[in-house]
Amino acid sequence: MERELALEFARVTEAAALAAARWVGKGDKEAADDAAVTAMRVMFDTVSIDGVVVIGEGEMDEAPMLFIGERVGMGVPPEVDIAVDPLEGTNIVAKGGTGAIAVLAAAPRGTVLHAPDMYMDKIAVGPECKGRIFLDATVKENLHQAAKALHKLISEITVVILDRPRHENIIEEVRRAGARIKLINDGDVSPGVAAAYADSGVDILMGIGGAPEGVITAAALKCMGGDFQARLCPEGEEAEEEIRRCHEMGIKDVERLFTIDELIQSEDVIFVATGITDSFLLKGVRYHQRRAVTETLVMRSLSGTIRHISADHHLDKKPLFKDKRIKLRLD
Ligand code: FBP
Repeated sequence: MERELALEFARVTEAAALAAARWVGKGDKEAADDAAVTAMRVMFDTVSIDGVVVIGEGEMDEAPMLFIGERVGMGVPPEVDIAVDPLEGTNIVAKGGTGAIAVLAAAPRGTVLHAPDMYMDKIAVGPECKGRIFLDATVKENLHQAAKALHKLISEITVVILDRPRHENIIEEVRRAGARIKLINDGDVSPGVAAAYADSGVDILMGIGGAPEGVITAAALKCMGGDFQARLCPEGEEAEEEIRRCHEMGIKDVERLFTIDELIQSEDVIFVATGITDSFLLKGVRYHQRRAVTETLVMRSLSGTIRHISADHHLDKKPLFKDKRIKLRLD
């Protein structure tokens, strides 16, 4: 993929973030999600790719846009797989909390794992810990290895975990081992990626969250030289249907462990995320006068370059933002 694509993708996540940001604190997660999805979908029409959505807003019959299998882009080479989450953290935006981002990842066609929207057990770390952590190792052993790799005491390691009853045991084990915990209410992509930043305050992400979010996190960590392991978790009454969907998507052994290179089977990956509200990674959208400022993280695995792009958008001027389907102004 040409490096110029990274900037084109940045415009796509910027549009989604600007659209979702209007809904911060308004208590309407569906409206926020719709706004982000529509803006992202409209913006994709301007991008020079022949893209297929492999991680998206659900199946064709349940999502009007950015559904799995939808073609996006101008229909010109390169042929790419696209993983999107136009609004990662719908509840966060509804409540005006921290950690919402608009995010996408791209890689050559056929190289991104197709996974249904189900749960996934994950562990994410930065480059120093690569090859030293294992999803199937004990929490204590992983913390010990991470502490050694990061030249920290275990008591200086910070683990981010979604605050859910299903994580009672891991939380207990992390506490027993003596590490610090940041419990989050939603949004596990941003702390997963933040684990690869030395000064983010996050060393490891552990626990069960969404599989689509897992694949997207893996794409980012691939760009940063970090590590990620995961296992799909069919659950409850949906389990049978989820396993059927996995089989349909080509995952024969649903219980297998996925390494980062199996989730993203290419060395040519682009990851882009724009902050909607402040997070471990990025500042959220800020408004002043008739302008909005966004912060976007752009990474390309081939070069290893990590850019933080600050953009000052004039909301009355951009032609695409005048598209009636995208509402970006605060009136
Ligand atoms: P949405 O943006 O779809 O609301 O998902 C947010 C999220 O918190 C993810 O970051 C996380 O992986 C997943 O939901 C956790 O799921 P659950 O809320 O069911 O525990």
